[in-house]
Amino acid sequence: MTVKVPPIKCQGIKTKLVEWIKDHSSLDNNGTWIEPFMGSGVVGFNMRPSRAVFADINPHIINFYNSIKQGKITAGIAKEFLKLEGGHLQAKGEGHYYEIRERFNKDGNPLDMLFLNRACFNGIMRFNKKGGFNVPFGHKPERFAKSYITKITNQIKYVADAVSQYDWEFVCADFRKIISSAATNDFIYCDPPYIGRHVDYFNSWSENDEQELYNLLNAAKAKFILSTWHSNQYRENLALEKYASNYTVLTREHFYHVGASEKNRKPMMEAIVLNYNPLTPVTLETEKQLALFEKTKKEYVVYSSPKP
Ligand SMILES: C[S@@+](CC[C@H](N)C(=O)[O-])C[C@H]1O[C@@H](n2cnc3c(N)ncnc32)[C@H](O)[C@@H]1O
Repeated sequence: MTVKVPPIKCQGIKTKLVEWIKDHSSLDNNGTWIEPFMGSGVVGFNMRPSRAVFADINPHIINFYNSIKQGKITAGIAKEFLKLEGGHLQAKGEGHYYEIRERFNKDGNPLDMLFLNRACFNGIMRFNKKGGFNVPFGHKPERFAKSYITKITNQIKYVADAVSQYDWEFVCADFRKIISSAATNDFIYCDPPYIGRHVDYFNSWSENDEQELYNLLNAAKAKFILSTWHSNQYRENLALEKYASNYTVLTREHFYHVGASEKNRKPMMEAIVLNYNPLTPVTLETEKQLALFEKTKKEYVVYSSPKP
């Protein structure tokens, strides 16, 4: 499967884990894909469900995708916009990036957000305490070369085609509202912020949030997958033991980079929590990966008796 990458990026984007999640997800034909923490949207978009509710607390993400849905942003409109603003960036340098950032923080124009997201440092989305976008410039005034603009506009076209074909809704809401709306044959995919990482205006996540999320998932009639972290070199995610011991927990190693150097390639064990039996058996490959984290082997790959 070739994973399609969406036009906007965010911290914790699950591009590398989409296939794994897809292999284990189970959506009834008549059900709705419900994704309360959509971020970039990469997971649900690649599932291509006929009906979906994509939600996030960040209004800029939702506004961006609704603008595509309503035809206010098309591949053609984005191309003209990025050509114009990319040209100014090349001529004026980083000052232009900061002008757009200021303009975005006043007006919230989704095209400005696209520009910032694709020109900023590391392609992340971070907002200060007042909700202002505060990621610095990525130091590439030549950023918007023709091929890069084409890449972005193709990503927009891919989403535009999908929203015209399927019944996809984009909603700005807290996860509590979205999860409680799920019906029996829906499928919920949750990817909340990880406690203590990437904290910003739209990404604060407390123990209380974690507990409420598990309470809601426990009460949900729908099947769900919850993405979380399992362990890294230093720590284990104690929430798994605390809240997920009755569920199936599958793990997979994932490497992420801190800075540019290869030696800073850090392993992280990612987890998915399922309230049903896995659809494909856990393979030898997974066993091999688990052996790297010997201690985890027995403790967390549990085959519980999930809810019917
Ligand atoms: C880890 S990111 C999701 C990444 C996404 N799965 C992807 O692959 O791009 C978590 C998302 O949860 C959103 N979020 C944080 N708190 C929330 C809340 N209380 N309700 C709904 N969404 C929330 C953030 O704005 C962020 O987009």
